Amino acid sequence: MIPDLMKRLENAVNFLPPIPVVVLELLQALDNENVELNALSRIISKDPSMSVNVLKVANSAFYRLPYNVSTVEHAVRILGIKEITMICIACGAYRVLKTPRNVQAFDSNEFWKHSVATGVIARRLCVALEVRDQTVIYLSGLLHDIGKIILDRFIHDIYKIVIQTTCDECISMIEAEKRYIGESHDTVGGWFLEKWKLPAAFIDVARYHHSVTESPEDSKTFVAISSLADHLARLRFYGFGGDMSGVVIGDTDAFKILEKTHPAIADMDVVKFIWDLEDADDEIIEMEGIFKH
Ligand SMILES: [Fe+2]
Ligand SMILES: [Fe+2]
Repeated sequence: MIPDLMKRLENAVNFLPPIPVVVLELLQALDNENVELNALSRIISKDPSMSVNVLKVANSAFYRLPYNVSTVEHAVRILGIKEITMICIACGAYRVLKTPRNVQAFDSNEFWKHSVATGVIARRLCVALEVRDQTVIYLSGLLHDIGKIILDRFIHDIYKIVIQTTCDECISMIEAEKRYIGESHDTVGGWFLEKWKLPAAFIDVARYHHSVTESPEDSKTFVAISSLADHLARLRFYGFGGDMSGVVIGDTDAFKILEKTHPAIADMDVVKFIWDLEDADDEIIEMEGIFKH
């Protein structure tokens, strides 16, 4: 049964729509050092739903801008090329994977809450540890479990059994996925983002967030922060990640790796950090609404 399933999954990933044109053009523009902001605005404006998302994100609590941003040009000027591209990547990925309305998806509200919370917490960890590239980490955190959407959409019947088993036996999602499918959501998410030729940080966070020590050196900090944020989101009961908790933060590979690269983490009061996440609730609810619709 497993080889059949693998074939189904590989076919599904191969037949998934390609990266949206707007994202592809933005990534190409990013390669050009002399790209003009107006050119980027024109690329985004060609895609109405992407434009709406860019404006929603620009006006969200995430950026806390003191004024309203009403045009794509303004958003690009304020947020910059890199930020805008990252927003479009995340919106584009979820647009492609949106489950058709007539298909019963697995608890998608809980999934969204967990994904957004992981991104928001990852960004807070960056601030605490003075790590740059917060937006890349935020958005790769947002996409870290995208393989679950693919599994749920393309082998829904079996995935229901997987989810039931994680609850019944209190085992991790990865363990149940490997038992029934032979592959797990981290690998499948990695395939998908690789097919889209996204920046390495996105692919590596999806692929290694459950096996941080195996991630390439260049992405290790990103992967470790996202993995830690994933654990914290579950400890804080932000949505259903499908993985049972019971983890001691200080014992995780992610924490141990960050202890070496960012010693400041040893002084971080984890309990207070988790407690303080309460004021991230509004931000999580708002971003959840933007990416979900
Ligand atoms: Fe995961
Ligand atoms: Fe997760």
